[in-house]
Amino acid sequence: MALSIHTLSRIAIELQSGISSRDRFQRLTDSLQRLLGCDACALLRYEQRLFRPLAIAGLSPDVLGRRFRLAEHPRLEAIARAGDVVRFPSDSQLPDPYDGLIPGHEAFKVHACIGLPLFVNQNLIGALTIDGMDPHQLDHFSDEELRLVGALSASALGNGLLVERLEKQVLTPIAADSQPLVEGDEEMIGISPVMAQLKNEIAIVAHSDLNVLITGETGVGKELVARAIHQLSPRAAHSLVYLNCAALPESVAESELFGHVKGAFTGAIHHRIGKFELADNGTLFLDEIGELSLTLQAKLLRVLQYGDLQRVGQDQSLRVNVRVLAATNRVLKQAVLDGQFRADLFHRLSVFPIHVPPLRERAEDIALLAGFFCERGRARLGLKRVALTGATLALLARNGWPGNVRELEHAIYRAIVLARASRGGEEVLLQPENFSLDTNAAPGRQIAPPEPELQRDTLRHGTDEYQRRLIRMTLEYCDDNWSACARTLAINPGNLHRLAKRLGLK
Ligand SMILES: Nc1ncnc2c1ncn2[C@@H]1O[C@H](COP(=O)(O)OP(=O)(O)OP(=O)(O)O)[C@@H](O)[C@H]1O
Ligand SMILES: [Mg+2]
Repeated sequence: MALSIHTLSRIAIELQSGISSRDRFQRLTDSLQRLLGCDACALLRYEQRLFRPLAIAGLSPDVLGRRFRLAEHPRLEAIARAGDVVRFPSDSQLPDPYDGLIPGHEAFKVHACIGLPLFVNQNLIGALTIDGMDPHQLDHFSDEELRLVGALSASALGNGLLVERLEKQVLTPIAADSQPLVEGDEEMIGISPVMAQLKNEIAIVAHSDLNVLITGETGVGKELVARAIHQLSPRAAHSLVYLNCAALPESVAESELFGHVKGAFTGAIHHRIGKFELADNGTLFLDEIGELSLTLQAKLLRVLQYGDLQRVGQDQSLRVNVRVLAATNRVLKQAVLDGQFRADLFHRLSVFPIHVPPLRERAEDIALLAGFFCERGRARLGLKRVALTGATLALLARNGWPGNVRELEHAIYRAIVLARASRGGEEVLLQPENFSLDTNAAPGRQIAPPEPELQRDTLRHGTDEYQRRLIRMTLEYCDDNWSACARTLAINPGNLHRLAKRLGLK
């Protein structure tokens, strides 16, 4: 027997320890990677025809942000359908979803692969994947042993999800299931503490029916937050109506918001329903609220106060039941002080303000978001594979991202297009040079040109500092595994050892 009773019971005991689900899942994949001696191991959650990684070991950190749709990943589809242990032959024609995602092996394919579907009460709840670079690395495990590992993992995953569900029910009055905040393409990616707090705030406010003011810099995800609030609210079955206040010419703004009757003004040849009426019983999302004129602010306030509105050209008023979510990247408090925004409207809207933090305050999420957008770009461009090198991830992690998530998203798509154009083929490996980012920049720091007599010294010092930073980051990505770090940096392990000693890292 390849797996001793001792090993299996160690896995079972490690799973019992009373720690958070996330840590427990992480511990599970870490132990399995160690005990099975595989190169990579991942615990995936199954939901709506896709697999979402919950914990990974030996894989690039961006994998945690990737969402694997069954329709696009035949190997995972085979695992989801199997009902039992699946072993893929090393010459299998089905591409492995992790090809190019094992640090140090970005240019290579995975050769040994086993998938274990995880069931609770005969429902598929997830899968465990075990991969190796050596074709025969996993041959000596029997199906019997792997089924045991699968059963242990399924019970750990099932319990973890149950606990999560119970915690959510305490937090929110209506039973929210354990789905991500918004499904599919609209999911909010991020596991950093500030994102966890944001998700909590969203879950709490969603059920309250309060108006919400969503603030944050450009591209941080304010619209995504608005969608999440609507979808988790009791109004989810009704419409979420969108209106961009900045794109509203003053002349049509009132009619856009409240509608008009035929003949109300020149050109009003039909009755027209306004956004407020369209959103009746649902939610109205007023984007860029800071751009609304003072006149319209007064009219909006009236609807919020009394719940009734008048169509342009009509005398009698109409009752509506609308929840308003508003977003702005302006500091509205300042606009109030400057007399550009009504204080009373500001107070009505910001009963529950939600601030979306800039990307530079959640650097842990950058790799996940990069993976998420790589996978999305891959699907859109019909490519087989899009992976990032460790050096690319390190570059993305230290960029400042003034345009936040949107800027990162566009940078990834542009890089995919550039990389494909320069090398062709259906498999793309994103290198630092595919991004037009300053490869030496540290966030928020400008380095002045050195004095000529200092240049030799500074160059040496600067190079050392750069190498130190790159090695530290890569090492962190490789879970402190020096040989994986050497592979990622494409440098001989002995040389890395000597270099690390000279730089004072060892
Ligand atoms: N946490 C996230 N996970 C996944 N995608 C995200 C996340 N945050 C933002 N995005 C994506 O980034 C892009 C910008 O997000 P969004 O439009 O919500 O930003 P915004 O704050 O409304 O920007 P603006 O102030 O410019 O209107 C969108 O494509 C969105 O899907
Ligand atoms: Mg927006």
